[in-house]
Amino acid sequence: MTTPLLRVEDLKARYGPVQVLHGIEFNVFKKEIVVVLGANGAGKTTTLRSISGMVETSGLIEFDGQPTKKLNPSEIVRRGVAHVPQGRGTFPELTVEENLKVGAFIRTDKDIKTDIEACYSSYPVLYERKAQTAGSLSGGEQQMLAVSRALMSRPQLLLMDEPSLGLAPQIVEDLFTRFVTMNQDHGTTMLIVEQNAQLALDIASRAYVLESGEVTIEGRAEELVNDDAIRKAYLGT
Ligand SMILES: Nc1ncnc2c1ncn2[C@@H]1O[C@H](COP(=O)(O)OP(=O)(O)O)[C@@H](O)[C@H]1O
Ligand SMILES: [Mg+2]
Repeated sequence: MTTPLLRVEDLKARYGPVQVLHGIEFNVFKKEIVVVLGANGAGKTTTLRSISGMVETSGLIEFDGQPTKKLNPSEIVRRGVAHVPQGRGTFPELTVEENLKVGAFIRTDKDIKTDIEACYSSYPVLYERKAQTAGSLSGGEQQMLAVSRALMSRPQLLLMDEPSLGLAPQIVEDLFTRFVTMNQDHGTTMLIVEQNAQLALDIASRAYVLESGEVTIEGRAEELVNDDAIRKAYLGT
């Protein structure tokens, strides 16, 4: 067995007196795309925020073989974890190009400009709008920018919280196709939280289902697509 890139064991989290994660456990291996499914309020966002060091937790979170417990969020980014938060993960008052530069805040190397150009060639619309504020972009363009901004830290692991939320189906399909390309071309490992189970299971190798702060189902994506409970709860068929 290889060591997982991300190992989560007995993860518990609370907001004040209310415990919302009750000892969850999962792994993400290098180069995998893993999806987390679950209803509203199940604890998906809290799980990603825990990995990024934004929530007080107990239990074990290990990234690349090292516990992340004592690290603050920017140290976790430095270790190689980037987070595209739920909603629009951009700074609306900053321009497209400024957003990309902010995404590279941990870097001092000379390749930042090259990486910005690479973003522009993947997403020409971002090049066209590079001097516009992020807030003036359409929802789909903002999501492309949010993902591009996260990639500017050259992450090993990309956490994405409901990237399809509020986007038209065609745009979502395009975005997910790009996730697959990113994964294949650059080997970027991804942990994606999604309500759009069908699309997410199509691109993922494995999935976990969270219910009320616990992992209740896990398995290979192609098996879960055919699982009756999953079909009923998340695929509407
Ligand atoms: N900042 C917060 N303060 C108090 N309770 C919160 C906060 N954020 C989330 N919660 C509660 O924690 C639970 C899990 O929320 P969340 O992780 O956002 O779930 P999901 O992303 O699966 O919808 C929910 O019951 C939610 O109401
Ligand atoms: Mg959420």
